[in-house]
Amino acid sequence: MLRIDNLNQHYGQSHTLWDLSFEVPENSCTCVLGRNGVGKTTLMQSIMGLAPKVEGSILFNDVNLVGMTPELRAPHGIAYIPQGRQIFPQLTVEENIRTGFFASRVSHNRVPSDIYELFPVLKEMRNRRGGDLSGGQQQQLAIARALVLEPCLLLMDEPTEGIQPTIVQEIGDVIQRLNTERNITVLLVEQKLPFARRVGSNYLILDRGRLQAEGSMSELSDELVHQYLNV
Ligand SMILES: Nc1ncnc2c1ncn2[C@@H]1O[C@H](COP(=O)(O)OP(=O)(O)O)[C@@H](O)[C@H]1O
Ligand SMILES: [Mg+2]
Repeated sequence: MLRIDNLNQHYGQSHTLWDLSFEVPENSCTCVLGRNGVGKTTLMQSIMGLAPKVEGSILFNDVNLVGMTPELRAPHGIAYIPQGRQIFPQLTVEENIRTGFFASRVSHNRVPSDIYELFPVLKEMRNRRGGDLSGGQQQQLAIARALVLEPCLLLMDEPTEGIQPTIVQEIGDVIQRLNTERNITVLLVEQKLPFARRVGSNYLILDRGRLQAEGSMSELSDELVHQYLNV
């Protein structure tokens, strides 16, 4: 589904991602793991066309995305939920969801009812402002907004950051439902290891911009965790 070959990225003189090559298998939930500052967000932004100076190839269903503008990438069926959620606090919940249509390949702009079915709390709060929602509700809103694109690949950058444990659980449930019931492939950046172990089918470990290890989540060893993930 997504195949990355020899990806390198620079911010000015600073070489951030080094020779990354890996695949995200269809229907997987692939977790990108690694400490702060190793390049996880930069990798997401490189895939979406939001990072400068990206070299190599990013094949999505055999189309090379490198060099394409972000606006042209989304209609291929990729959606991105950035770190920090970035919803519009002044817009209502419903208006926030509808902003997802700007990059849409679907022609209507009604909020599909199955989105509210996935997130009943957003239906209850659809006329409230985004800024009035709790962190967990805002994360659900960010996911809902990404789903109106009807993506086949969903990129999520630390969706559980700063969210209370009961809601973390719910977000995990939603990711699993998207993955298994809707066949959406998920590429998930995650710092919380128990969460990654629960929802992930396989993992990639980055350290200082390089891919250090990859495999199926059930085989992620304590040794790797100790070496690359523990602080
Ligand atoms: N816009 C930017 N300009 C320059 N350097 C950046 C920028 N964004 C991130 N970096 C640097 O790139 C490295 C990787 O950052 P990032 O991808 O955000 O890491 P992570 O998401 O793993 O915490 C860090 O050293 C960071 O300081
Ligand atoms: Mg990050």
